[in-house]
Amino acid sequence: MTPRTKPRIDDASGAPFVGASILSADFARLGDEITDVLDAGADIIHVDVMDGHFVPNLSMGPAIVSSVRKAFPDAYLDVHLMVADPDAWFRPFAQAGADLLSFHIEVCADEREALAHADRVRALGCAPGIAINPPTPQARLEPVASAFDLVLAMSVMPGHSGQAFMPEALERGALRSALPATTRLEIDGGVNPENAATVREAGFDLLVAASAIFGRPSEDRPGVICQLKGSE
Ligand code: DX5
Ligand code: ZN
Repeated sequence: MTPRTKPRIDDASGAPFVGASILSADFARLGDEITDVLDAGADIIHVDVMDGHFVPNLSMGPAIVSSVRKAFPDAYLDVHLMVADPDAWFRPFAQAGADLLSFHIEVCADEREALAHADRVRALGCAPGIAINPPTPQARLEPVASAFDLVLAMSVMPGHSGQAFMPEALERGALRSALPATTRLEIDGGVNPENAATVREAGFDLLVAASAIFGRPSEDRPGVICQLKGSE
């Protein structure tokens, strides 16, 4: 396996990162799939956690993160909590080895609760991220965004991989200029080599993709990841 150094999400270099969302991986071969996408150039591993309440689907829990952490001590694990009660899950995922825990603004009663969650995530030794769904007014997020290491704009309604990109999400790219340079602006859902340049130009510097990466054979993945980064 190629030696790796864990990337810093707050490096402020402006160079785009690619997150490979394992939601579309072959779960029977999860370790091999992660090795393959890291070797193909993915910067981080994005883990989609669904609770059957905030979204209708179920996906992965802390046991999977714990196994991935043991097998990949230097991988950056970006855990996207699509759950109704994130506070119940911060500690289990932090103990499992997550680097970053993002939760949704839609489940926060107000700004104070969002900021309290961010403090709790930091106290557990993880970076906090705040996610927003396509229909949610950006005004909900703006007062708290700079308290986070990552802002995650959904470009599909969360719940499944393989959905079509919602172009209205590009408007969230305007957040880039209002955020600290050390806060990443992530986009998640329907991102692929065809729309990646538009996405980067809109201001996003962390592009997550599941089906565009894992839906392709191993030999195609380095090229896909280069196209997502714009480094081909
Ligand atoms: C959607 C998840 C995404 C998803 C992206 O609920 O948050 O991370 O895996 O899948 P693609 O890239 O296939 O749209
Ligand atoms: Zn996600």
